[in-house]
Amino acid sequence: MANPVDAAELDGAFYQAADTFFHTHRGEALTYDDVTLATLYSDVLPRETQLDTRLAEGLELHVPIVSADMDTVTESRMAIAMALHGGLGLIHYNMTEKDQLSEVSRVKNHVHGLIQDPIRVSPDQEIGEILALIEKKKFSFATFPVVDADNRLLGLLPGHVVKPRYAKRRVREALTPRNEVRTIQEKELAPDPIGRADRFFTEHPGIHKLLVVDERDGLKGLFTMSDIERITQERSAQLKPARDSQFRLVCGAAIAPMRRPDKSLDRDRILGHVGALVERGVDVVAVSTAHGHSRGVGEVVQLIRSAFPTLPIIAGNVTSAAGVEFLADAGANVIKVGQGPGSICTTRIVAGVGIPQFTALYVASRAAQKRGVTILADGGITKSGDIVKALTLAHGVICGGLLAGCPEAPGQIIEINGKLYKQYRGMGSLAAMKAGSATRYGHSSSDTSRKIAAEGIEALKEASAGLDQVLSQLVGGLQSGLGYLGAQTLPLLREKARFTRVTVAGMREAAPHDVVEVKTTASRDPV
Ligand code: XMP
Repeated sequence: MANPVDAAELDGAFYQAADTFFHTHRGEALTYDDVTLATLYSDVLPRETQLDTRLAEGLELHVPIVSADMDTVTESRMAIAMALHGGLGLIHYNMTEKDQLSEVSRVKNHVHGLIQDPIRVSPDQEIGEILALIEKKKFSFATFPVVDADNRLLGLLPGHVVKPRYAKRRVREALTPRNEVRTIQEKELAPDPIGRADRFFTEHPGIHKLLVVDERDGLKGLFTMSDIERITQERSAQLKPARDSQFRLVCGAAIAPMRRPDKSLDRDRILGHVGALVERGVDVVAVSTAHGHSRGVGEVVQLIRSAFPTLPIIAGNVTSAAGVEFLADAGANVIKVGQGPGSICTTRIVAGVGIPQFTALYVASRAAQKRGVTILADGGITKSGDIVKALTLAHGVICGGLLAGCPEAPGQIIEINGKLYKQYRGMGSLAAMKAGSATRYGHSSSDTSRKIAAEGIEALKEASAGLDQVLSQLVGGLQSGLGYLGAQTLPLLREKARFTRVTVAGMREAAPHDVVEVKTTASRDPV
């Protein structure tokens, strides 16, 4: 009879914890497909798992997925959709600073319950002027609070009088007077403004607007019933929106390490721009470059950190422990890891540099643990299984290609031979660098007129379903992964994961094989 074996010992010998596994394989650099995760005893159902992740103090997501700061992936529409589903969008910087500020404002002002700065009208205006304003600004509403020159509430102009037949009437003749308008004191809203407004609308059938005032009857905000209903429905939805402490959607923005003509850092411009972003409510800035372990990037991070001590900063990209320590010491809270794994990247081909992503993540994760910072796995994610693997080491993932085909990504749909595509290009492609991203690759914008080596390609992605569906697939896969490992949360996933190496034959076995495929589903392409 064979010797009795200890099951735990046997499993431990073949399916190893990260430190043992990566040290055993330290002579070779591995990526997602080189590795698989072992199943573990579980009493956790996928739907019982929690995907919350804390990237930095004040930056918490309900889904650990970030959309890349690329000009074919994230502008306000994508950032709004990402935050509504619990993730985060990083607005790219291939646009003017003014445009980027507007993009951030769009995300931060997306329905968040209390409209803090509602459009007001004055009693002396004519209804015709209000109609013209609605037409010009394309407002989808026609009810306005009426205030005096000191912002004191005089009444409410109801939508049913904002009609061309009353164009010549003054607002003062048509408004619902102050004593008939329902209001609530600002101080009565704490601690749960949405819950309080929700209760008000239930208690007052037929009233759809609630004005917020201070002690001197100054207008402080407005709730509408439709916004409150949308938000209360969201609260029970599976993917909860990621919001800041004021209940606004979270939003990040990438910033360029801008330089003066003499190549020195343009400190005033960088600080001015970050300051304006902070004023708009940005939750995190990302110093996004191809080589984060460099003097220039360290200087930018230090500069921002000293001027904005509590602002979360993402910085990168690096693939070494020393790179993580360098950026953490400069003041970054979240480090982007990845050099060359991206679907449109050619850095490894062009420069011969970069590390297969899984090994890079391991090395970075150990340095991050030591320095008390978090890491984001940036690039190379092609399926939900890669996200599960990445999150055994990282606190979140950044996706570009997986999201670039969504209608929420910038750009038009292109039809080629009856198939629908969207453009997807590397920020190091010549076209993107000409549009502004050259500094990310250590060139100046003027360099793009001479011949510089592009480190990314211009490509197409098949147009995909909406972000809602794409994220549901990715999140569903992630939850399954946690279920297989008996991990209810992401910290438990990082603690419990056991790894083994996969051969080429093993990889072939992992995908559908020896069948005639009639319908492609999540196993290889999650969208
Ligand atoms: P995926 O695989 O999600 O990768 O499409 C997105 C990530 O790729 C990085 N990126 C680039 N890397 N050349 C590079 O070497 C490029 O032109 C380029 N553009 C983007 C970036 O980190 C992004 O998040």
